[in-house]
Amino acid sequence: MSRKVLSDLVAGIEPSPTEETSFLANSLKRQGVDVISFAQGEPDFDTPDYIKNAAIEAVQEGFTKYTDVPGILELREAVVQKLKRQNNLDYDVLEVLIGNGGKQLLYEVFATLCDPGDEVVIPTPCYVSYVDQIRLTGANAVFMPTQEVNKFRPRLEEVQKIWNPKVKVFVLNSPCNPTGAVFEEEEMRKIMDFLVEKETFVVTDEVYEYLLYNGAKHTSPAALDIRYKPWCVLVNSVSKTYAMTGWRVGYAAGPKEIIKGMNALQGHVTGNVNSIAQKAVVEALSGPQEDIVLMVGEYAQRKDYIVNRINSINGLSCIDPDGAFYIFANVKKLIGKTFGRERIKNDKDVAKFFLNVAHVAVVPGIAFGYEGYVRFVFAKSLDTIKEGLDRIEKAILRLE
Ligand SMILES: Cc1ncc(COP(=O)(O)O)c(C=O)c1O
Repeated sequence: MSRKVLSDLVAGIEPSPTEETSFLANSLKRQGVDVISFAQGEPDFDTPDYIKNAAIEAVQEGFTKYTDVPGILELREAVVQKLKRQNNLDYDVLEVLIGNGGKQLLYEVFATLCDPGDEVVIPTPCYVSYVDQIRLTGANAVFMPTQEVNKFRPRLEEVQKIWNPKVKVFVLNSPCNPTGAVFEEEEMRKIMDFLVEKETFVVTDEVYEYLLYNGAKHTSPAALDIRYKPWCVLVNSVSKTYAMTGWRVGYAAGPKEIIKGMNALQGHVTGNVNSIAQKAVVEALSGPQEDIVLMVGEYAQRKDYIVNRINSINGLSCIDPDGAFYIFANVKKLIGKTFGRERIKNDKDVAKFFLNVAHVAVVPGIAFGYEGYVRFVFAKSLDTIKEGLDRIEKAILRLE
């Protein structure tokens, strides 16, 4: 066939490296190898029963038809209440949109705000999907590296240095995937003052807002100052908080004009989010919140264990993250070592070595736009974490 099949746009999409790692791990598993995977960023808990029951009731009541594209009013009202209660933010239902997970909403914000040639600044290391989503809009994703000594939190000087008049959007992800960085309020204010003065929109990805440790506090930038809110589009989802990754429900809140644009796009691409899942999320947001506390308590114990353990292994080190459920471990000391005839040249090779020799899957830092590191997910049982690190420790001893 001589006819070109794929558009340049689609041909240019990079496969998600997280999925790529999971794919490699699964092919080993299919060959009978017992692989421990720290690759997939999702809770190992089940969705709480009271949420599942709301979905069952919705099915039984025949709540199975199209809904309004931006989401049922009951759910948008629940989001408005949640934002008021939890984040001290006042939004109207017309400023809220329900989407198929945070992921879809992030794409919709970028597509709504960006023209080809615009720049979107992303502090790195960053969540893998931002880059391709931005590219699909024709805008340019510009990486702003943060530093491990600052616990990977952006500094005002870094933002000032990278900003130029083409920058239309800045992405703020706190707590951060893959570093677990939680921004301090004081630095966030300084950065927001600068960005708002420069009329730059801020996409604030808050999907890990409840997963906090070491006494860290989550702050929504839009709530910090009345001047910030018109420049902020908040994206959140129930995936990580309520162990609901498969239900695909997220929400965005922002200025009416932007939400209206995102809604117009969604109306032609997916329409409304699954009606049954919407009913379940009303319950998730409005029902008892104790399960979150229990899950966060468990994550905190696992985090303490994995941080201590990683820092006790020769060749690995990590900072103690304040949020999310990831460890971004420094593996620079392993680079340059050899295993038989193979030389470890970069973090991708480290991840390959861990997978092939220790049978442990981790995602290389390069996937998050930052070399010399690998990401571990600690949303796994303590036994699994222990076994995975035992294997890695043993494998590292075989390096020369
Ligand atoms: C930083 C960040 N934002 C957004 C998402 C999207 O999550 P979902 O689409 O399940 O809401 C993820 C998922 O891994 C994430 O890590």
